[in-house]
Amino acid sequence: MNTAFPSSPTSTPHIIDGKAAAQAVLINVKAAVEAEGLTPGLAVVLVGNDPASAVYVRNKSRRAEECGFLSRQYDLPADASEARLLELITELNADPAIHGILVQLPLPEQINAYKVIQAIDPLKDVDGFHYVNVGHLSTGAMKEALVPCTPLGALHLIQSVIGNDLRGKHAVVIGRSNIVGKPMANLLLQHDCTVTLVHSRTADPAAVCRQADIVVAAVGVPGLVKADWIKPGAIVIDVGINRVETPDGGRLVGDVDYATVAPLSTAITPVPGGVGPMTIAMLMQNTLKAARRLTTGEQPGE
Ligand code: GUN
Repeated sequence: MNTAFPSSPTSTPHIIDGKAAAQAVLINVKAAVEAEGLTPGLAVVLVGNDPASAVYVRNKSRRAEECGFLSRQYDLPADASEARLLELITELNADPAIHGILVQLPLPEQINAYKVIQAIDPLKDVDGFHYVNVGHLSTGAMKEALVPCTPLGALHLIQSVIGNDLRGKHAVVIGRSNIVGKPMANLLLQHDCTVTLVHSRTADPAAVCRQADIVVAAVGVPGLVKADWIKPGAIVIDVGINRVETPDGGRLVGDVDYATVAPLSTAITPVPGGVGPMTIAMLMQNTLKAARRLTTGEQPGE
């Protein structure tokens, strides 16, 4: 029994501070870089000029610099061909100064994202989207796996509340995307949770979700998860970042109806300021992992 995890609901839930947690991870990464005399190299590729993607990419490049990494950003025009992008990836795969390659998604429609992801050297796939890394995670080869950053960040926040031991907790993941839902489910399974994936064809998602000790919502539907989806005392992790229009211009909201769900929960992530900052911190952690492995010459499986 973990005494840090109250068994009864509280009307003043712990609001999980993703910014502070991310800052702590970044400080550790920077300290490791200095102590080990390593210069991890991260290449971030943006195709086109989607404003939200441009902000994400800039933040990733900036954080990499702050961690003492070599940080390179490649901006390709919106009409760049698939062949041009594949050529760039081939160059980056061969570049010994680069240990992590991230191609920001979504990509313009003339480019096959699957083909692009599979072209990245799995050892440099810091997004964890290549099927080699998907396979490592789903078979439990955690030392070898580069795990997708958002699920890794969500797990870190869950463990910051209830400790590392998640054995036997019932975790319900809402959403089955390759970027969040499926790797999140695999990661929680790896930590001995009983895992249920809820998706758009689930018969009664609210009833399933009400059984959860841990809820992770990652569907991109503003305010989908309401109070009647939540067992009192649950931990609620909101991965959604949805822009909704308001009379004063618009704001970001999550997939969870925060106002009604927060009073029922033991701990909850806000949007913004919850999982979002953790994604970038975990990208830096993955790049450090990739750099260590590539510079020591150690191969997966060794
Ligand atoms: N677009 C939205 N989230 C992500 C992510 O985690 N990685 C990449 N490459 N693109 C994204």
